[in-house]
Amino acid sequence: MKIRLGNWPTLFFVVFAFGVAMGIWLAASSAVRATGTASPDFNTVAPILQKNCLACHASATKMGGFIVESYDSLMKGGKDGAAIVPGKSDASRLVEMLEGKIQPRMPFNADPLPASDIAAIKAWIDAGAKGPSAGEASTPLKPLAIPDIKPQVQVASPVAALKFSPDGKILAVGGYKEVRLMDPATGKVLATLGGHADYVRSIAFSPDGKELAAAGGPPQRGGEIKVWDVETHQILRTMQGHTDCIYSVAWSPDGKLLASGSYDKLIKLWEAATGKELRTLKDHIDAVFAVAFSPDGKWLASGSQDRSVKIWDVASGQRLYTLSEPLDGINTIVFSPSGKQIAAAGYDKTIYIWNLGEKSGSLQQSLIADEDSILSLAWSPDGKVLVSSSADNSIRFRDAATLNPLSVLENQPDWVEALAISPDGKRLAAGRFNGTLSLYDMGTSKQVLGPTLAFEPYKPAAPSASQVAAEAAHSAERAQAGEVHQ
Ligand code: HEC
Repeated sequence: MKIRLGNWPTLFFVVFAFGVAMGIWLAASSAVRATGTASPDFNTVAPILQKNCLACHASATKMGGFIVESYDSLMKGGKDGAAIVPGKSDASRLVEMLEGKIQPRMPFNADPLPASDIAAIKAWIDAGAKGPSAGEASTPLKPLAIPDIKPQVQVASPVAALKFSPDGKILAVGGYKEVRLMDPATGKVLATLGGHADYVRSIAFSPDGKELAAAGGPPQRGGEIKVWDVETHQILRTMQGHTDCIYSVAWSPDGKLLASGSYDKLIKLWEAATGKELRTLKDHIDAVFAVAFSPDGKWLASGSQDRSVKIWDVASGQRLYTLSEPLDGINTIVFSPSGKQIAAAGYDKTIYIWNLGEKSGSLQQSLIADEDSILSLAWSPDGKVLVSSSADNSIRFRDAATLNPLSVLENQPDWVEALAISPDGKRLAAGRFNGTLSLYDMGTSKQVLGPTLAFEPYKPAAPSASQVAAEAAHSAERAQAGEVHQ
């Protein structure tokens, strides 16, 4: 269970979200202690939940759909509904799970709680499962102090972005604060482009292959695009402008423009040669996760959490039309090589393909294609094959004309967040949440390289308090938007 890639609170942030939650608990419990109460209240059970449950039941982890971060979320219950029946501990699923009467026993995969802890939880429920104190629960509590929980383990950055250079000789891999340039034939690392503010969530090569744009930025603070010289590995420009991180960057086919789509709901167009911001395209009412130029460069397409794909006129910056069939947020969009169609997919597990006209688009087909959210799409250069990766841990190859399955790679060791097809159409690169990378033959779908770890594991530095709060708020927001999957 983990979080969709767009978000990537890796182990690192999960640990720190945990820290924030602990801060909230500390604040809550001291407030309650000061007022003092007679019958057992939330304060008596909070430390038990904090110690034994929060790691898997925070808003960033949310196992079983159950969050114990606040009294309200605790009482709300999980995917199976309320887990606590006030006044009736024996009828409370939470207690039955602690006692092993309902499987799986909680805490999951660990020793049962000591009898005294279970007794304290039962006593609190039997006394009415009271909240902290009147009004407290609805006050948004801010962490007073961030406990010093530095992860001692090293973590591997997820592979967040993949792109082949136009000549196919370089595979650029984006991850935590860096881009690796690799030889796709051997897996050899050619260069590391470091110094990014946060995850590199998207990569675009200039059409001549000489420059590379890598985009990301720290959540809730700003978007960042760094443009690199591919041969000398020198940084040429850094562009800032969004108020939140960038999820997608695209380079126009004539080489003149860069487009960026951000969590701040905006799309920006930039002059590639100077880094100057040219235009802001506003119309999405939620995060923009994907942008793509049509092969002729006339249109820009954008896919958003707001369940729509929009087609824009690049020259005027005007929105031409909106494709609004999707039932949930869009993660990924890709133009057909002919430019006549666009495919999009996301949280509703469905691949949509529209025929694009000057004034409107028509849905050509849609198919519930995977068993869980679709994370990434790639269209083969000959237009014949559409590849999807899903949170069901699969990679599926489909006939692009019919969406009939051609082959499937099941049981991927983790979510494949990034897909890229080589310009000659022979190789598929797949990058995973667990930091590994594989190359597959597009014809036989056999693995020809990997899995190999794309980045060296690193020991994350403790982020600042404001970073922790920002990331936790992001996770919570996105969890609410239904983007956290188990
Ligand atoms: C190591 C991770 C982990 C820990 C620690 C853990 N849980 Fe869970 N919990 C899970 C998972 C996974 C599920 C989903 C199980 C399933 O649906 O098969 C779950 C489900 C639940 C559910 C059911 C939610 C629903 O609506 O289906 C409850 C209640 C629950 N846990 C309570 C607790 C309590 C209380 C603690 C602490 C004493 C705890 N858990 C500790 C992983 C954990």
